[in-house]
Amino acid sequence: MARVLSAEVKTIVTATAPALQQHGVAITTRMYERLFTDPEVKAMFDEAAQESGEQPRRLAAAILAYAQNIDKLEALTAPVMRMAARHVETGVKAEHYPLVAEALLPAIRDVLGEAATDEVLSAWGEAYWALADILIGKEEALYTEISDAAGSASH
Ligand code: HEM
Repeated sequence: MARVLSAEVKTIVTATAPALQQHGVAITTRMYERLFTDPEVKAMFDEAAQESGEQPRRLAAAILAYAQNIDKLEALTAPVMRMAARHVETGVKAEHYPLVAEALLPAIRDVLGEAATDEVLSAWGEAYWALADILIGKEEALYTEISDAAGSASH
């Protein structure tokens, strides 16, 4: 089930979207530094896309698009399907999502400093999980499709 975000959370996320736009790549670059202290997680990512800065840019763009569309998430259907497809190709599972949350939220504080108040971080935490739930749901459906197809191919 998708989480329902309160009007207050949506207001905070929308209000902080410009700061994210300005500092988005710095935040996601810092997030990956934190995330990649886990070598198993690091191995899931394409090294070239990290080094060129391409992956931090993609993630920053996705987070920003999300903040800008928080009241009309149906506008994000196509990018969400693309992300879910790429996640399934690279073996991303529901259990990985807390690791990204634990890397992303402190990274926002590292970069924005005092501007990232507890209230802002908690709103972004809720918003992250609303998006994560959507992705996890799509990814589960894709994994099921793949295993059903493999199952019928072997009979
Ligand atoms: C709400 C959370 C997340 C968002 C918004 C997000 C966003 C994205 C985006 C935009 C891409 C690029 C898709 C493309 O190729 O066009 C991507 C790829 C990827 N994501 Fe995520 N992601 C999230 C969570 C996660 C988690 C939990 C993991 C697991 C540790 C993960 C691992 C990956 C990997 C391995 C790729 C492929 C990178 C590559 O090509 O090297 N993501 N993600």
